[in-house]
Amino acid sequence: MGLVKASITGVNGYTPDYVLTNKELESMVDTTDDWISSRTGIKERHILKEEGKATSDMAVEAVNGLLKKTNTRPEDIDLTICGTVTPDTVFPDTANTINHKIGAINAWGFDVNAACSGFLFSLSTGARFIESGRYKKVLVIGADMMSSIVNYEDRTTCILFGDGAGAVLLEPSTTGFGLEDEELRGDGSGREYLLMRAGGSLNPPTAETVARKEHYVFQDGRPVFKAAVKGMAQTVQQVMDRNQLSSDDITWLVPHQANLRILSSVSEMLGFSKDKVMINIHKYGNTTAATIPLCLWEWENQLKKGDKLILTAFGGGFTWGATYLTWAYDQ
Ligand code: UT7
Repeated sequence: MGLVKASITGVNGYTPDYVLTNKELESMVDTTDDWISSRTGIKERHILKEEGKATSDMAVEAVNGLLKKTNTRPEDIDLTICGTVTPDTVFPDTANTINHKIGAINAWGFDVNAACSGFLFSLSTGARFIESGRYKKVLVIGADMMSSIVNYEDRTTCILFGDGAGAVLLEPSTTGFGLEDEELRGDGSGREYLLMRAGGSLNPPTAETVARKEHYVFQDGRPVFKAAVKGMAQTVQQVMDRNQLSSDDITWLVPHQANLRILSSVSEMLGFSKDKVMINIHKYGNTTAATIPLCLWEWENQLKKGDKLILTAFGGGFTWGATYLTWAYDQ
C-alpha cells in the first residue's frame, strides 16, 4: 500500500419506498413466506417503481445525503466510481450520469462491473487513486436496480433481489485509520452459473433473446452458494492471517447479503459470533453492489474510530474478496 492511506469519511444509503413482501411474492409465483424465510432469511425487499427512474436516481439520493452529512461541495469531488450491473444504459456509464445530476462538474468517473463484489472492487480502485496523492475526494458507490433485470415469473431468483444504493466518501486519512489490506479474486470459469445471457456483444438483443427471457438474471444457485461460502471464508482468513488478526480482534464482519445461510456458514467457519456480523438481508434482500454500503450506513452510528472491519463479498464472474479497514471517525 502507498504512503497516503485512504479512509472512509462518510457513508449514506437509499432504498426506494415500495416494499415487496414475501406475502406479495406468494401471489406472484409458486412460493411461500416459509420457504423464502428459511432458505434465504429474506422477509422483504425495496423496489423502485417510479416511472422513468433508474439506478443513477437511487445513487443520487444516497450521494446527495452523503455530501450534506460530510459538508462536501459537489464541485470538490475529483472522481466517482460506481459499482453496478444495472447501469442506466449499457453505455454511457452511470457514474458520469450521477456526476451530472449531483453537479460534480470537476469530476470524472466510471463504472465497475463486478456484480455483488462491485462495491469492494470499486473501493479498492478508489483507494488507489487516494493513495497516489493526486486525488483528495473520491465517491465510491454501490447501486443496483435489480428489479430491472429480474424475471418475476422465476421463483428461484425473484425472491432474492431488491433495489438500493449506498455511497462512501474516500479521503486521505488524517487519523491513521483507513483501508489496510485486501484480498480480491476472480475466476471467469464461474461465469455460467450467474449471468445475464443476452444483451452484450456475445448475444446482442433480438426478438428471440427476449422471447427466451435471456435478458433476466440467471442463477444456478447451489454451485454459487458453495463457491460463495468457500471464497468469502478463504479470503477473510487470508486477510486476518496476513495482519495477525483473529476473529476476536475484528469489531465487525460486513458480508455481502446474498443468503442468511451463507452468512451463517461463513461466520461460523471463521469463529465470528452473530453479534459481530452485520446482517440486514431480512429487510433488503440481495441488492447486489449496494449490500455492503447499506450495512455500513445502517451501523454507522455504532461504529467508532479505530474499529476493525472486514468487508467480504462474492458474486457473478465469479468475483470475490475481503477488505480489511480501520474505521476513521466517530459519528
Ligand atoms: O449474490 C451473488 C451470489 N449469490 C448467492 O450467493 C446465492 C447462492 N445461492 C442461494 O442462495 C441458494 O442456492 C438459493 C436461495 C438460490 C436456492 O436455495 P437452495 O436451498 O439452494 O434451493 P435449491 O435451488 O436446491 O432448490 C431446492 C428446491 C427445489 O425443488 P425440488 O427440485 O427439490 O423439488 C426448487 O425448485 O426448492 C425449490 N425452490 C423453491 N420452492 C419454493 C426454488 N425456489 C423456490 C421458491 N419457493 N422461491
